[in-house]
This record gives sequence, C-alpha cells and structure tokens, in this order.
Amino acid sequence: MAICVLIVVFSWFPLLSRAANFPGAVSLKCEYLINPIGIDAIHPRLAWQLNTDKRGVQQTAYRILVGTDSVVVSKGEGSIWDSGESKGDVQLVAYSGKSLTPFTKYFWLVEVWGRNHEKIGSSAVASFETGIMDSKNWQGAWISDGHDVTRKPAPYFRKTFEITKKIKSARAYIAVGGLYELSINGKKVGNHRLDPMYTRFDRRTLYVTYDVTSHLQNGKNAVGVLLGNGWYNHQSTAVWYFHQAPWRGRPTFCLDMRITYEDGSVETVSSGADWKTSLSPLIFNSIYTAEHYDARLEQPGWNTAAFDGSKWNGIELRAAPSQNIVAQVLHPIRNVETIPAKSVKQLNDTTYVFDLGRNIAGVSRIQVKGPSGTVLRLKHGERLYPNGHVDMSNIDVHYRPTDQSDPFQTDIFTLKGSGEESFMPYFNYKGFQYVEVTSTTPVTLTQSSLTGYFMHSDVPVAGTIKSSNPVIDKISWATNNAYLSNLFGYPTDCPQREKNGWTGDAHIAIETGLYGFDGITIYEKWLADHRDEQQANGVLPAIIPTSGWGYQWANGPDWTSTIAIIPWNIYLFYGDPRLLNGCYDNIKRYVNHIEQMSPSGLTSWGLGDWVPVKSQSPVELTSSIYYYVDASILAKAANILGKSDDARYYQALATKIQNAINAKYLNKETGIYGSGLQTELSAPLYWGIVPESLKSKVAANLAKRVEADNFHLDVGLLGTKTLLNALSENGYADIAYKVAAQESYPSWGWWIVNGATTLYENWAIDAQSDISLNHIMFGEIGAWLYKGLGGIKPDPKWPGFKNILLTPHFAEGLNQFEATHESLYGKIVSSWKRSGKKIIYQVVVPSNATATLTLPIRKGNKIYEGRTPVKESSQDIIILSLAENQVSYQLQSGKYQFEIR
Ligand code: BGC
Repeated sequence: MAICVLIVVFSWFPLLSRAANFPGAVSLKCEYLINPIGIDAIHPRLAWQLNTDKRGVQQTAYRILVGTDSVVVSKGEGSIWDSGESKGDVQLVAYSGKSLTPFTKYFWLVEVWGRNHEKIGSSAVASFETGIMDSKNWQGAWISDGHDVTRKPAPYFRKTFEITKKIKSARAYIAVGGLYELSINGKKVGNHRLDPMYTRFDRRTLYVTYDVTSHLQNGKNAVGVLLGNGWYNHQSTAVWYFHQAPWRGRPTFCLDMRITYEDGSVETVSSGADWKTSLSPLIFNSIYTAEHYDARLEQPGWNTAAFDGSKWNGIELRAAPSQNIVAQVLHPIRNVETIPAKSVKQLNDTTYVFDLGRNIAGVSRIQVKGPSGTVLRLKHGERLYPNGHVDMSNIDVHYRPTDQSDPFQTDIFTLKGSGEESFMPYFNYKGFQYVEVTSTTPVTLTQSSLTGYFMHSDVPVAGTIKSSNPVIDKISWATNNAYLSNLFGYPTDCPQREKNGWTGDAHIAIETGLYGFDGITIYEKWLADHRDEQQANGVLPAIIPTSGWGYQWANGPDWTSTIAIIPWNIYLFYGDPRLLNGCYDNIKRYVNHIEQMSPSGLTSWGLGDWVPVKSQSPVELTSSIYYYVDASILAKAANILGKSDDARYYQALATKIQNAINAKYLNKETGIYGSGLQTELSAPLYWGIVPESLKSKVAANLAKRVEADNFHLDVGLLGTKTLLNALSENGYADIAYKVAAQESYPSWGWWIVNGATTLYENWAIDAQSDISLNHIMFGEIGAWLYKGLGGIKPDPKWPGFKNILLTPHFAEGLNQFEATHESLYGKIVSSWKRSGKKIIYQVVVPSNATATLTLPIRKGNKIYEGRTPVKESSQDIIILSLAENQVSYQLQSGKYQFEIR
C-alpha cells in the first residue's frame, strides 16, 4: 500500500530570512532513478535537491507539475498532476495525481519556495515512463525451445519483421525465466549484464524495459534473443540443491516490442509461434560454475535480417514461470570496472597464469589466436599454490560435481581458428584474482591477452572516506570491493563458493552499504524476495532467494532479522517508510513466531557469533538480542505508521525480552554480561539492552577487556557489528580506533598488510576452512568509519538525514580524516585535521537539512567558527549545551569551519 505523503518534517528552530537567489531544484529522481523507463508503481516517489550551498536554506513549500508534454510542463502547467503549492520541507513525495496509464512518458518539474515565501526557483523538466503496469497488458506468448532441463547448449531465438512507417519511439519489454541477451539487427541492446535479477521465479518474474528506438531501421529488421540458465535452470550440483528447485525449467521468455509511429499508430512485435530457434555456440552455461563456448558452432549474423533462418526449428509455447510479472526497477548489473592483468607468467608450453593484482567478482575476457579446435581452459581462483598454479581449495568445497564435465570456475573456450578470437562469459560470474589458462596446443599469450571485468549492481557511489592513515583507507577500499563483489541484484556472502543471499551477512553490512552506495533499489527488490519466501507462520529461510534450502538451519533471528533491520535502515537513511510499511505484516508475523516459540523472552534459535577469533559467546544471548531488536523495530514502525495498539504491545514485548536478557546474563554488581567477552559486552551496549545506569560500567568493562586482549578484536560476525561502535559511542573512541587500525593478527589491517584487496571470511589467513577471500560479513568497519570517526549518523526523529547527528571523534593517533555522504538532501561532509595543537573541523550540512553537532573538547578549549569564537547562539549556530568535555550545537544548512584551540 502506498503512502502518499511520505514524510512531514518541520524544522524546530526559528529561522531568519536570507536573500534568495537560487537556481532552484536539481537531481530529480523518480523511484530513486534518473528519468526511469518501464516503471509499474501507481504512486511513484519523486525526489529532488535544492541547488545551493548557502547557509540556512530551508524549503517551506513545493509544487509538483506532471504532464505528458514536456514543453507544457516547462511552462508551469501540470495536466496530469498539479500538486498546488504544498506547504512543507519534504523533498520526497509520492505521486498522487490522475491514474497513470501504461506505456506513457510523463514529464515533471518541481517549484520550490524558501523562507518568507520567497520563490527559490524551478527545476529543469525530468521524466518517468510507465511500463506494462498490469500483466493483462502483455501481448506476447511465453516461448522456449522445447528441450528439457538437462539440455546443455543455450538456445537462440529470432524473428524478422518489416517497418515501413517512420518510427517515433520503440520500447522492448522482456520478461524471462533464466537470463538473456537481447539484440536487434545484430547489436546487443543496452549494457546490462545477467538480467533479469534473480527472484523466486515461480512467485515473481521480472521484466526489463529498453528504449530500442535507435536500434530499429526502415525495412527489414531482426530481433534475436539468447537465453541462459541463471538460477532458473541450475544444472550444476552443490549442497544447496538448486538443481532441484521447484521452479526449474528450460529458460523461457516473453517479449513485447512496442513501436509507436510518427502517425500515432502503434504496432507490437511479440514473442510467439512464428519465432525460430537454434542451439548456440554457448554449449554450457552455469551461473554457479562457468561457461563453455565452441566458436566453431558460431552462426555469423544469426540476429540480423539478412541471415537465413529457414533451417532453424519452431519454438514451443509454454506457461509463464509465475503469474506475477513485475517491472525490474533498479540499478542493473554491469561490467563496471575494466581491470587489465597486472602480470602474466608462463609456466610451460601450454600454461599461463594471469594476475589481476586484486580480487574481484566478475569475468575475464581472453583474446587469442590459435588453430581451430584448440581448447582453452580458464581456471579462476583467489590463491596460488607455491608452484604458481591456481589453487581453488578454499572455494570449491561445497561443490558436488557428478562428473568432470563442469569444472568449478573454469571457462572452456574452443577456438574456430580464424585469426584473433575472444571470449567473455554471458551468463556467469566468478570470484577471482588469478586466471590459469591452459591450452591443448601451444598458443602465445601476453599480459594484454586477458582482461578482468569487475561486475556488480551498478549502484551510484554515495560515500567517501579519506584519512592520513593509508591502512584505514585501504580497509575502506577493500570493504567497498567486498560489498560490491557481493551485490548482484541481491546481497550475497561471497561471489565464488556460494553466491547465496545469506541474510546474516547482509544485515551486518547494511549500513556499510548505505553509507557508501545508493542501494535502496536493490534492497527494495530483495525485501520483495523475503516476502515471497516467508512461510505463513512467519519463518524465513537463511538464504534468500532459495529453492527450499535454509528453512531448517541457520535461519534464527541472528540471521533472518533482515526482515526488520533492512527496512528500518532504509527508513533511517532515506526517510522513506514505504519499505517499512510494505514489510510491516511480515515483521509482525516473524516476531509473533519467535514469541510463540520463546514465551520466556529468551531464544537460542540461531548460529551465534559466526567464525570468531577464539571466544564463543552464548547463542542464547546474541539471538535474544536480535529478537529484542526486531520487537523494538516493530514497535517503532507501528508508531510511525500510526498503529498505536501494536506500538504499545511490541514495546512491552521488547522490554520483556530486555529484562529476560538482563536477568540471566547481566551481573549488576560487576557490570559484566556472561563471562565478559567482547561480544557479550558490546552487543548489549550497541543494541540498547544495558540499563542506562549501568552503561558506563559495562563500557568500562569492555574497554578493559579489549585492553586485556592487547587492543585486538576477539569477535565473530555478530561482534564485529557491535565492538567498535559500542566503544566509540560510550567514550572509548581512541580504543575503537586502536582496534580498527591494528595491523597484526587478528584485525582487518592484518589482511591488508598481507595484500588483501577485499575482506576475508576468516581472521586467520591460513585457516583451513571458512576462508573465502571475498566475504562481506566482517564489513561493518566500513560503516564505523563514517560513524565512529566522521560521526555522521541519521537521526531517527528526522530520518533521511533531514537532521544529521554529527559526533566526530578525533581519535588519538590519527591526524586527518574525512567522510562524505550523499544524502537525499545533498552531500554531507565531516572532515577534521590536526594542526599543531588545534583541530580544524569542516562540515557541510546540505540545504533544507540541519545538524546536531557534538564536538569532544578538553578542559580549557575554545571553539571558533571561522575567526569568531562561538560564545553565544547565532542564526546559524545555536548552542544546545556546553560541558567540560563536549559542546553541542544545532547547525543550519551550509558550510562551516570550526577550530578547537
Ligand atoms: C556463508 C556465511 C554465512 C554462513 C552461515 C557460510 O557458508 O558463507 O557467510 O553467513 O554460512 O552459516
């Protein structure tokens, strides 16, 4: 259900007027995308930013105009929706004009007013375009080539058609069970990879929209489709049984190409009985393992009109994978970065090993010349044996091949023997740094023969970290690499061994993701996957999507609390309650289920602090904490959504769980939980379990514990989320930094000084198991840099960074630090450096936002803003509190430079 006006927030400080001479609003987005096409939303969300960095800018009113003619809209008329001048400082509004119709381009702009009713200005005209909107609007048939699921080669499909009139515009809508590449007149359409995103195909099938106007030509045209298996037809066998998925089928698609002519008429070219099919040179493809391609089987021009397709076979008409065919509205996967090989070593006549110099998720492209029939095997891995060959023993452990025909992470390329040839997989990706190429006959390869492509959901960068400590900067970079390597339309654990949507890993990494990247579209899609997978009794599987595995193991609240934690964080970071609202009943069912199982308020359902250094905290403590987190989020969500009975009930439930945890685990005398391990102390602190009166005692015990551990961490996955934050939020920022910046075992820095370019699955680099080298589960440190050093946090009372909580920590041992985050309102900057005995702190608060700044000080410190001492409140800086060890100000928008002397 849509919420029409998403946020109503009022600034609470009296504001004085300033001269307004602003160019208006910029960065217009619809459904969090720039000028999207093919959206199904009935109330699409519209967002903008104010285009000024002046101080004290506040929007007091806005007017949104929507129409179908851009010129008319630019003149200030909205025939479809004119919101009228609406009071408020919201910059995220759900469309609520006339009903939107499918296949229609809408243009929109926003006018904004500032204080004293001064018009700030208008935006330029932006657009959004609706897609199919209702499954009944599809005209095409679902087709496949009629082979069964065991058939290996990928099928081609083609159709030719004539265009005689002048084209105004054309769109292709393609829904697929499996993966596809669409081409028109011999050219691939778009630059997406691995489309459509993985869903539970029998419950939700995605379609993708393309503007194909420029692909079509007068006269004869040809449209070609190559289908891959993806997760729809998992032929490889591993321990999660995707080969037995209930949805499994030979890949299939449905296509409508809607051509609008200059004369206003519309023609739709669709998939149907008149299409032809043939097997392609892609003789095997597995999303999990690799691809095999035999160039000798190529059919040049197969997707052009001139090709003779008369010998191709007829297609088979079949049922749709599901009845629920919806638009894919998100940042697609792309080959985002090109990574040339850093070196190559020839091991013998027929073996070369390429090194990309960094670990990535993605594919390699090989360029080679050789005799026809030469077979190249490209084995991708993260490590080398001492003899220089690729070692896959850390990543192939869950693979259960039934024969030799489908080697792990190994592409097989057979040459046709006509000059330079190249191959890059279509429907697979891998996790790797090294590629070992062996050939059946000697071929000459040089460093430039192989290139890596870093693939991931191409989410815009939203955050940056820079510091005077190169190890910290490298940790931040490696964290981002691991995060992106694990973002493929759903968050995964690792790109090689599993590619599974492990829930626990994803909620640990959610803040790291959202500080660094604009990922809302991916998480909205993934929470829809959650809703598809949830059982009536509220239970969720440990991996999502799943073919059925994971309802029985590893799916306790310490993992599957994604259902509450992810929507809550989306709300905090974007100020948008739509996902929270959409998942409300699911969170409730989930919490109710645990309540039924655990009437005492304690639960041992879960895995606990996974892959710890040496100490294992009790599962009951950590799982009960997550149960508490879910009940509290549910209570807060109920409050936000106006469900007061629920709010009361679940708040009381949260308190009951909190009390049960404290009664069993907290020694009130000593301020120690359990046996006082790092996770046992930091998790209750971070998640708000500790009674207010005992917080400083527990925090002091944590600090002592960490000191006794020689300022090194001793935690697993759950403790990494809480350790650094619990320290820096409770007066021990210097200790937190010490742990974060360690370069000896166990630490993030230990990986870095040993050459890591991604995060690992195990603190011990020489671990015998659980040692993927590209795991995001220890990735909270990425978010901690923004929070614990930059001090940037969303304010739950004014979410979406409408008010920013800014609490920088000038950690001992670090000279300079800067964090930036691109929020809904614009770019937030929190930057500090030491200069002699002074600290210079620069901050940028985006227009129409405010910040509550808390600066740590020492006795005798004075604070200046620019050259002026801050002694009393001004129009931009309101003093909230002054204490010996900290001051707190309320800042209006704008740039500030403070000096603490
Ligand atoms: C995954 C982890 C995951 C864990 C849970 C592992 O195999 O790679 O990241 O959270 O299983 O048991």
